[in-house]
Amino acid sequence: MGNCLIIGAGGVGRVVAHKCAQIPEVFENVTLAGRTVSKCEAIAADVKRRTGRTIATEHVDAGDTAQLVKLMKRRRPDIVIHVALPYQDLSIMEACLQTGVHYLDTANYEPPDTAHFEYSWQWAYHDRFRQAGLMALLGSGFDPGVTNVFTAWVAKHALDEVRTLDIVDVNAGDHGKPFATNFNPEINIREVTAPCRHYENGIFHRTPPLSRHSRFTCPEGVGTFPVYRMYHEELESLVRNFPTLERAQFWMSFSDNYLKHLEVLQNVGMTRIDPIPFQGTEVVPLQFLKAVLPEPAGLGPDTRGKTCIGTIVGGTRDGEDRSVYVYNLCDHQDAYLEVGSQAVSYTTGVPATLGAKLMLEGTWMSPGVWNLEQFDPYPFMADLNHYGLPWNVQDPAEVSLEDE
Ligand SMILES: NC(=O)c1ccc[n+]([C@@H]2O[C@H](COP(=O)([O-])OP(=O)(O)OC[C@H]3O[C@@H](n4cnc5c(N)ncnc54)[C@H](OP(=O)(O)O)[C@@H]3O)[C@@H](O)[C@H]2O)c1
Repeated sequence: MGNCLIIGAGGVGRVVAHKCAQIPEVFENVTLAGRTVSKCEAIAADVKRRTGRTIATEHVDAGDTAQLVKLMKRRRPDIVIHVALPYQDLSIMEACLQTGVHYLDTANYEPPDTAHFEYSWQWAYHDRFRQAGLMALLGSGFDPGVTNVFTAWVAKHALDEVRTLDIVDVNAGDHGKPFATNFNPEINIREVTAPCRHYENGIFHRTPPLSRHSRFTCPEGVGTFPVYRMYHEELESLVRNFPTLERAQFWMSFSDNYLKHLEVLQNVGMTRIDPIPFQGTEVVPLQFLKAVLPEPAGLGPDTRGKTCIGTIVGGTRDGEDRSVYVYNLCDHQDAYLEVGSQAVSYTTGVPATLGAKLMLEGTWMSPGVWNLEQFDPYPFMADLNHYGLPWNVQDPAEVSLEDE
């Protein structure tokens, strides 16, 4: 059906490579390109061992549009699945426009020098993609991604009007390390230390990072965890695409150990993103920190437990108040056994692959730049069940966020 170029050979890139290889009827030729070719080659060797399929590997600096254009002219992909870093979103979108290739990513653009997350930079490409007859699908991971589709599904299927949204992301797993992040450390720490923004009564309200927390009991005996309110990018598109929402918030679990380390690292200046002079050169402390922390791709063998990510959507049905919870549980070791990555990479890589699958099949294909909730949620929800991320519904919701 089509050729795909995966950019980024980290934890998520590994999952996407395996998943594309598992669906040969859609992904006929797969190329994995990254900054460090040896990482691409190691993933390709694993894919060959597990699936018997050969995927090509290439070197590319995804921040360099000219290099990308050269690579894409040679490999002739129909779609790029971008799972490197958000800094490269715009250079890759430019290269797609220059070569006539569809685009998909899992994280919105952020300028390297300001940890500011918003879709405006990428939404600004809508007319150019539409005029070129190309599609860009933004944020096709789990959150953003599946959480957008869960919200759309509840809005379409379960409620007459949606009014409140709480996205709850719990990682009940343990990697056994004193401090490690489950996705790219630099992006993770920029996100977690940013001021919180939540939406209420028509505007986003700003509060200090992680200043509000609740307790959340996951379904199916996964456990009870403290969850912290923070800003997450899907809030921006969801309140725009579901204008009846009166309040939208995002919550994430962190262990006491993670928070303790993060506080110390912040206090000593290691999470700074501005360059500082160091021995005759310049160093960005957070980038140095990233270089000494464990890589997410290496956490697979030791991570045990489950992730539990879902959306609690409140609103009305038949004139009555109702709230509905849709969620997925993903086991770290099951993910590792299947593709060699822990569940945070898995829950991101599978939806990235499925978004690309629906685009190549023509099920989700419309020129322009879109977020996932703008498409029919049913085919995506069906594919989640089929390709490794089965979901469940509580209608009415039996879970809630409890103040501590
Ligand atoms: N939506 C979601 O649910 C969700 C969840 C988790 C993660 N994500 C996103 O997924 C992406 C990947 O996360 P991850 O955990 O896989 O991170 P990761 O393990 O650190 O992998 C990132 C990869 O990108 C490569 N890279 C960085 N700069 C590059 C460049 N200029 N050119 C080519 N390759 C480059 C890195 O190469 P080197 O190895 O050479 O450094 C690395 O292999 C991130 O953008 C993250 O924000 C989304």
